[in-house]
Amino acid sequence: MSKLTFGAGIWHFATYLDRYATDGYGPAKTLIEMIDLAGQVRDLSVVDINAPWSPDISVDEVEVALKRNNLSVIGITPEIYTREFSKGAFTNPDAGVRRRANEMCNQAADLVRRFGASYVKLWPGQDGWDYPFQADYKQIWRYSVEGIGELASQNPDLKFVIEYKPREPRVHMSYSSVARTLLGIEAMGLPNVGILLDFGHALFGGESPADSAQLAIDHGRLFGMDVNDNLRSWDDDMVAGTVHPIELFEFFYTLRKNKWEGVWQLDQFPFRENCLEAADMAIDFLKHIDGALDRLDWDALQAAQDRQDAMGAQKIARQALFGF
Ligand SMILES: [Fe+2]
Ligand SMILES: [Fe+2]
Repeated sequence: MSKLTFGAGIWHFATYLDRYATDGYGPAKTLIEMIDLAGQVRDLSVVDINAPWSPDISVDEVEVALKRNNLSVIGITPEIYTREFSKGAFTNPDAGVRRRANEMCNQAADLVRRFGASYVKLWPGQDGWDYPFQADYKQIWRYSVEGIGELASQNPDLKFVIEYKPREPRVHMSYSSVARTLLGIEAMGLPNVGILLDFGHALFGGESPADSAQLAIDHGRLFGMDVNDNLRSWDDDMVAGTVHPIELFEFFYTLRKNKWEGVWQLDQFPFRENCLEAADMAIDFLKHIDGALDRLDWDALQAAQDRQDAMGAQKIARQALFGF
């Protein structure tokens, strides 16, 4: 078994509101409390942290909390999707709001340097449009590409990852698929912008996540990944492996086939579940997948794929993953 690094978005340990439980699914937690919970997960060593966080918590306090929990930071996610950005961050019609998004992302870049993290994670969830005729598509796409291109040019020492998703909260997100995101990145023409591929977002978008990973790798742009699960019609952010185990196995098979190395990161929202149990469950399944990749008959699988033999390939994959 290879030595894996497991991570999680710190929001895994938060409590959530939605448009029905407007009182939340539990009492609110501070960032420090979330870090202390993350520290209780077996095998978790890195976290992605949203910024800015509450002003009554200093960067030093966060650093101390991370240290006592043996955690380091993989990425900082600027919150460019809150009320101020309800009409978009990089694509906002107001140039002042677009500037504010740029400033927030630059502040996130400073935190990445401070924590020695790997990247600024951009999730422009409000960038896009809702209604027919609302948007000048050429303008929206230009804003999307230029906004991130400007940011990456201002910080050539850092990596920026774009996490695409088809929709929510915007009805149509600008960076909605692996192909559109690669097109945008190629248009920027910069070496320090890549994709963070969220397995669930690819499923939700009707993609085969393993194929999405292969495409991003072939363009040299797979900088990070998240795993979770969903019922394919929404970004449910359920526990990894609970709904689509065979596709998750194919996703990691593709990463290993390409010798891709990086953190195996959870992006789950355990609304009604115990967050520690949900993280441990997912990581246990990911370890099982890693073991299954060791057991897999790689040559036989390649031969089956060369024949495009669906049942033959399934038997080999199933044997390794489920043992029958
Ligand atoms: Fe994600
Ligand atoms: Fe998501």
